[in-house]
Amino acid sequence: MRVNLRRFMIIGSCLTGAWFIYTYLSFFVVTNSYSRNNFVDLEKKLNSLQSKLDVELSDSSVLLERVKQHLRRSEQNEKTKELYSNNLETQSVINPILPVLVIACDRITVKRCLDNLVKFRPNKETFPIIVSQDCGHNATYQVIKQYTDSDPTISVVKQPDLSEIPLTRAKVKFKGYYKIARHYKFALNYVFRSLGHEAVIIVEDDLDISPDFFEYFQGTYPLLLKDPSIWCISAWNDNGKKELIDLSRPELLHRTDFFPGLGWVLRSETWDMLEPKWPEAFFDDWLRDPENTQGRACIRPEVSRTYSFGKVGVSKGLFFDLHLRYMQLNMEFVEFTKHNLTYLIKDVYDDSLTSLVYSLPESSAEEVIAGVGSGPVRVAYSNAKTYQKAAKKLGLMDDFRSGIPRTAYRGIVTCYIRGRRVYLAPNYEWVKYDPNWG
Ligand code: UD1
Ligand code: MN
Repeated sequence: MRVNLRRFMIIGSCLTGAWFIYTYLSFFVVTNSYSRNNFVDLEKKLNSLQSKLDVELSDSSVLLERVKQHLRRSEQNEKTKELYSNNLETQSVINPILPVLVIACDRITVKRCLDNLVKFRPNKETFPIIVSQDCGHNATYQVIKQYTDSDPTISVVKQPDLSEIPLTRAKVKFKGYYKIARHYKFALNYVFRSLGHEAVIIVEDDLDISPDFFEYFQGTYPLLLKDPSIWCISAWNDNGKKELIDLSRPELLHRTDFFPGLGWVLRSETWDMLEPKWPEAFFDDWLRDPENTQGRACIRPEVSRTYSFGKVGVSKGLFFDLHLRYMQLNMEFVEFTKHNLTYLIKDVYDDSLTSLVYSLPESSAEEVIAGVGSGPVRVAYSNAKTYQKAAKKLGLMDDFRSGIPRTAYRGIVTCYIRGRRVYLAPNYEWVKYDPNWG
């Protein structure tokens, strides 16, 4: 029995050991298999996460690409818009709306002016006609109405303030000039502020125009936009008698420091600058004072594109009989819109004019008139007196406004006499005009 107990104990402890070993092993195996399963799960999860991430990533990269595309497209749109507006700008430079403002008062002969404008107007939309009537003269209004009634691109507006302008006895003889200045102020405010035009061609009711009048302004208008030293384009040559111009060069244009008026283009932004200081009278002489136009120049033609038939007017007939009636109106059509006019840009023009003029041989006004010599010449002057003497001899206008001779550019007056180009030029280094001249 003792042996059996011992054997029993041995077998029991063996069994217990085996159970321990089994339990341990099985525990180990279970744990091991559990963690392996877990790892596989984790890997699966990670894989699915990875693929989800991949999907999301590819989704967001598609989104990103879309955003980029959108940005590219809107950038492109902006560029197109810019290009388009530039084109529009170029378009409006090439084909601007240039209304014609006709300044009328009490002369029924405004009919002659309107007939010519209608006759030579190449395009009604580009050149609407606006008649501004002062003076409350009914017969003149009825003449104008015949045009406005039959053509919607011709309109009329009445200057509303017909009140008497109070003037001292000394000034009363200039009343007409006060009324004209008042009328201009109203009419320009109407065109620019009420109608909102960018620029305007101004004509008076006693002006004839050349066949290429509209083409002239259309072709030269871009100069006004390109060159800030130009403030006006005029159709008038103050020394435009046929003995003083080169009739074979109707395409020739010049810069001038002397405001010529008589058919001219003014920009809205220049009006904004002029309007607050606009004078009560003699507006044209006021525009000849460099202080009022910031020393800028105008463009004028060799051969005038307007002709004044107004013998009866505010300045009476003397000026007409002495000068105006002899002015030459251009009759040849020049295609200015197709011409290269860059020679009129300040930097180009100033250098080439002065270097040309001062390289020329000098001559006297007497010799020029007597036909001594040939080819271009320079006639020198040294002061107001010698200028006037030479100008008179050559048949040029010899008056000054704010010290500026008519048609002068940087002190130089150019004309064409007996088949040669003549430059009346200072024999000193010109710096500025002397307002004490004249
Ligand atoms: C001269 C100038 C003219 C300038 C005027 C003002 C010449 C050939 N003419 O006038 O360009 O504008 O000086 O200094 O150099 N008018 C009115 N209200 C009036 C009177 C006239 O609006 O009460 C109008 C006319 O219709 C015309 C313009 O003003 O359109 C000029 O009048 P006009 O009688 O022709 O005077 P000019 O002596 O030619
Ligand atoms: Mn006149």
